[in-house]
Amino acid sequence: MGRALLVTGTDTGVGKTFVAVLLLRWLREEGMRAAALKPVETGCPAGPGGAPRPEDAAALRDAASPGEPLSRVCLYALATPLSPHLAAEREGVRIDPARIGEAVADARARADAVVVEGAGGIAVEIVPGYTFADLARELGLPALVVAENRLGVLNHLRLTLSFLETAGVPLLGVVLNDRRRDASPACLTNGAEAARMAKEAYLGRIPHGAPALPDEAAAAFRRRFLARPSARI
Ligand SMILES: Nc1ncnc2c1ncn2[C@@H]1O[C@H](COP(=O)(O)OP(=O)(O)O)[C@@H](O)[C@H]1O
Ligand SMILES: [Mg+2]
Repeated sequence: MGRALLVTGTDTGVGKTFVAVLLLRWLREEGMRAAALKPVETGCPAGPGGAPRPEDAAALRDAASPGEPLSRVCLYALATPLSPHLAAEREGVRIDPARIGEAVADARARADAVVVEGAGGIAVEIVPGYTFADLARELGLPALVVAENRLGVLNHLRLTLSFLETAGVPLLGVVLNDRRRDASPACLTNGAEAARMAKEAYLGRIPHGAPALPDEAAAAFRRRFLARPSARI
């Protein structure tokens, strides 16, 4: 039974997919069988046949398990660029959280490490009244929080960590992602502040354009995710 985690973020567009791809490539380099899931993806452009094509799921799949059918990586690919619960309602789709749970269990049965990417941030609803934090708690997925390195992130990070704690979701780690090239004062001080907030869960910074998971983050990730007995995560 492989271990699994949820990649969430301080907001939408902060680098969850970017970081998840680096993580999946690194897991494979470590010799692990990796699997990726993007259970619900919204705002999907039309694919060749006209059906919504989940781009995040495709990027994750290519990093984790090339050749795997996209329908196994993304259970609900929706065209509407809204929160999952609203996009599903508009498109007349009924999202079943139990199906997501089954997909995660199935992925854990065939892989050593499963990376599940959320949609938006941790308080986003999958169905009305049921958030990604609820899903993570129910499935026993610790959260890896991707925080975009910019002015305002400390507030978003504190809110995210507080929400996780209230919901009873273990914090696996926090990475500060240099999504944009930015040398503003906040970007220079955010790292130390994020470390103060997340304590030992702070895994470090992801540089802009990083081609691979930086050594510091990889070592911290190995310590916090791979070195623990999987039953505890
Ligand atoms: N560290 C980074 N360096 C360069 N580009 C990045 C970095 N992080 C994110 N991006 C880019 O920013 C955009 C949003 O990132 P993405 O991973 O799609 O966010 P999310 O999955 O949280 O919505 C994408 O175009 C992505 O390639
Ligand atoms: Mg994404």
